[in-house]
Amino acid sequence: MTVIENLRLTDRFSMLTLQHHSDSLSDILPGQFLQVRIDDSKTTFLRRPISICDVNRETRTLRLLVRRAGDGTNRLCDLEADSSLNVILPLGNGFSLPEAGNAKVLLAGGGVGVAPLLLLGKKLVETGIRPAFLLGARSKQELLIMDEFAKLGDVFVSTDDGSAGEKGLITENSVLADRTWDRFYCCGPKPMMVGIAKAGKRIGARVDVSLENMMACGVGACLCCVEKTVRGNVCVCTEGPVFNVEDLTWFD
Ligand code: FES
Repeated sequence: MTVIENLRLTDRFSMLTLQHHSDSLSDILPGQFLQVRIDDSKTTFLRRPISICDVNRETRTLRLLVRRAGDGTNRLCDLEADSSLNVILPLGNGFSLPEAGNAKVLLAGGGVGVAPLLLLGKKLVETGIRPAFLLGARSKQELLIMDEFAKLGDVFVSTDDGSAGEKGLITENSVLADRTWDRFYCCGPKPMMVGIAKAGKRIGARVDVSLENMMACGVGACLCCVEKTVRGNVCVCTEGPVFNVEDLTWFD
């Protein structure tokens, strides 16, 4: 794919827009990811898994939210327009959608974990469901693409320093005290997902989480992404990354 734009959102985050040469990207589901090859790196030999944040089928483009976390992602964040990227996509299962058209759903994510929630939010709106979002960041400056989330539904915010929304973790946000949610979707660090899963358990809401286990091959060959589930050990890259938390053994 060709990088057609690199928008540097903050010091730590970039939004890359990639265009496919021929494919319309029509088979990409919210929650799926791609594996990108990092060229010209002496330290990054394995492809990096990146969530697909948004897709535009008319322009054959997709967007990736990338956080600087090491040499591989630093290189991605520094790419210039017209660079080429070798990617494998789409990978993984994606989020399942609620059956009821009037389901009350909350999409929760922090930092780079907000990425797959945008495409999921768009898909929910297409199916007639107005989602709500619970977004977390270190500070107001690191609340990313908020205007895009706000176009889709209500947005609730937590920041570590209290510079926007409620001060503290999203797992402490008062919106979770509402007992009328039918379903939570969550993507972010495991402690966050565990907290959201507990909140869902308290009110009987289904919770789907997108796991960020370490990945190497992305296609079920290396077994480095294995997660224990009620069905035994499975590869997150092929059976996930999205799981109903009931299928995991986090609370056993
Ligand atoms: Fe290799 Fe999942 S990343 S098996």
